[in-house]
Amino acid sequence: MNKKIVLSGMRPTGPLHLGNYAGALRNWIKLQEEYQCYYTIVTWHALSSEYQNSGQIKKNTFEVAIDWLSIGLDPQRSVLFIQSEVKEHAELHLILSMITPLPWVERVPTFKEMQREIADRDLNTYGFLGYPVLQTADILIYKAEVVPVGEDQAPHLELAREICRRFNRYFGEVFPEPQMLLTETPRLAGTDGRKMSKSFNNAIYLKDSPEIIQQKIATMMTDTRRKRRTDPGVPEDCPVFTLHRAFVQSEKREPLAKACRKADIGCLECKKVLIDSLIEILTPYWEKRKYYENHPQEVWDILAFGAEKARAKAQQTMAEVRTALGF
Ligand code: TRP
Ligand code: SF4
Repeated sequence: MNKKIVLSGMRPTGPLHLGNYAGALRNWIKLQEEYQCYYTIVTWHALSSEYQNSGQIKKNTFEVAIDWLSIGLDPQRSVLFIQSEVKEHAELHLILSMITPLPWVERVPTFKEMQREIADRDLNTYGFLGYPVLQTADILIYKAEVVPVGEDQAPHLELAREICRRFNRYFGEVFPEPQMLLTETPRLAGTDGRKMSKSFNNAIYLKDSPEIIQQKIATMMTDTRRKRRTDPGVPEDCPVFTLHRAFVQSEKREPLAKACRKADIGCLECKKVLIDSLIEILTPYWEKRKYYENHPQEVWDILAFGAEKARAKAQQTMAEVRTALGF
């Protein structure tokens, strides 16, 4: 009955792709069996880098929500909500910002990295510096004990734990220290062989039709050694095989690898197995998606229902926080 609390968040960047599924969603779905999960679409985090384009955030939030619901995040079991619908996150963020030493946030490596990487936007703001402090508030406000994230988020989780300890030291044991649950994030290749990423324009999306998926994979580069059907290949060097590793069961996958090394199989045939697996995985998703596309209000209602549940818990925590502060 007393399940541990999980919290994770995702920025509303638009439709989700196979990398988001293999690197996060697949694990989030599984965690629903054992934990009380809170999953939030972090609109305010999006604003920290997209403030010049804030009009996109609502549409992208809908895209993420419809993907979540269709792929298997279950609103009956998990609390699915929009961060900015629970204003208490902002209050806790403010309070945490008062006790967070400036060097702690300045040292977070993602701060300068992202400023360098996202060169087309001005990230030199107060809010962007506080990005991981807001993330800390997201976690602590639900007293989450487990936070599933990819490796890139490790510095943020370290900071969250430090802020948590500092708060508890000053004001009493209000928050449990959140544990990072490192999610293995397989490096999936996109259609051009580079890392699959929305910004590279090489992604295979969950919402892509079977025909599009078929076409994207059929034209994908394979191991360059296999110029002719009779040339043996090395699956470890094949971009397509990164997808096999993530989406084809090992009993089917290992024979393919063997056959590739001996040139016993053509790439088309090998790709066909991958395509079939993806279609099998995504067929229930496409069916649910069709339903939600025809009932968009239901998507918003589910998020509102989630926000209500989240708010109840967040308000409880904030009452404790104010008492702890002596307010
Ligand atoms: N920063 C996270 C990312 O970019 C998203 C996020 C926001 C998050 N708040 C969170 C993740 C709380 C885990 C817990 O992926
Ligand atoms: Fe890649 Fe399969 Fe072709 Fe080998 S047979 S190169 S693993 S697509």
